[in-house]
Amino acid sequence: MKKNLIIFGTRPEAIKMAPLVKQFLKDTRFETKVCVTGQHREMLDQVLSFFDIKPDYDLSLMKPNQNLYNLTGEVISGLKPILESFKPNFVYVHGDTTTTMAASIAGFYAGAKVCHVEAGLRTNNLLSPFPEELNRQVASRVATYHFAPTIKAKENLLKENIAKENILVTGNTVIDALLASSKRVEQLVNEDVVYLTSKINVNSRIILVTGHRRENHGQGFINICAALKDIALKNPNLEIVYPVHLNPNVVKPVNEFLAKIKNIHLVKPLSYPSFVWLMNKAYLIITDSGGVQEEAPSLGKPVLVMRDTTERPEAVEAGTVILVGTNTSKIISETQALLDNSDKYKSMSSLHNPYGDGKACQRIVEFISRL
Ligand code: UD1
Ligand code: UDP
Repeated sequence: MKKNLIIFGTRPEAIKMAPLVKQFLKDTRFETKVCVTGQHREMLDQVLSFFDIKPDYDLSLMKPNQNLYNLTGEVISGLKPILESFKPNFVYVHGDTTTTMAASIAGFYAGAKVCHVEAGLRTNNLLSPFPEELNRQVASRVATYHFAPTIKAKENLLKENIAKENILVTGNTVIDALLASSKRVEQLVNEDVVYLTSKINVNSRIILVTGHRRENHGQGFINICAALKDIALKNPNLEIVYPVHLNPNVVKPVNEFLAKIKNIHLVKPLSYPSFVWLMNKAYLIITDSGGVQEEAPSLGKPVLVMRDTTERPEAVEAGTVILVGTNTSKIISETQALLDNSDKYKSMSSLHNPYGDGKACQRIVEFISRL
């Protein structure tokens, strides 16, 4: 029986790997185990609980304000005994985090075939996003099998001389997760929803904000906060809801600049279904998140992306996403245009599915079963 070890560590990896875990666990041709590095803790556990996944191994690595050096080393050395005792044939990693990069190296050292899910995204700028562009390029070097979400991602891999028979275009597993959750979200009543509906008028226009990118820490976040404050004060009927990422480099500036503004609501990270519920209610999303850029087109929500580059050009081409960087006046002017100009709003809010049809995990399992 083929043995799979699925490894992840952060919130977005967990959301995007959860449907793959489910798909493999119900397939009796495989013995599948799940290892979490615990690069994230609360934000990872929220996802594990929603998808009801109980990891076989948990490295519990997260430390307050952790650094890349320690984390990278601890993922590799933490995985050694697990890889040596379980001896998986296939190790699955996702995307571009430190867990992804370090786990792919560990899997390679152990002689397993490394399978990279969400492979082939590129900005080709190692500093943006930092360190994610390096992480995914490293994963591509050590992986044997590459599950590309889009044709563009496959083309990026072909340019790097990866053999075409080892690449499969699957769609993004984030759409599998979104579709699997959407029924449970329609009538959602949970703690988050009760809290939010008591604090905000859900019938007014809601701007949903998230942000965490390392290259935006410092001045970038100061610029973002200045823009949000200006937008909130100029549009008093608007509700801005901001689930704040737990990274202290985000928590500090956001609370310093925005805590006292009446129509800005700073809340803790929401559980995945609550966040999807809020995306559905939102008029507009302002974010630097990768995953949110992929979910929003499927929900028909315009997105302003607070980055200068994106490895997800499909949504920009589809017209759902505009890159605004962390330039205060650009964030303000593009937001105001979407609030005031209904034609512009309509042209950005039609439904698209550039990132998949919800069957990515099925395709991955079929591919592996044929090997
Ligand atoms: C990480 C990933 C990034 C990904 C993001 C998703 C790296 C280098 N960065 O960034 O690619 O887009 O996750 O959110 O892999 N913290 C908590 N609780 C949590 C999670 C984080 O308290 O559940 C705090 C801790 O103080 C932690 C800090 O946030 O040390 C930073 O976490 P880390 O995973 O290193 O970086 P992120 O900014 O979350
Ligand atoms: N998300 C969530 N709760 C929140 C904010 C985001 O569940 O409060 C989900 C969101 O739906 C998406 C993922 O988290 O699937 C994105 O994670 P993040 O922005 O942290 O990471 P990135 O995608 O940028 O790597």
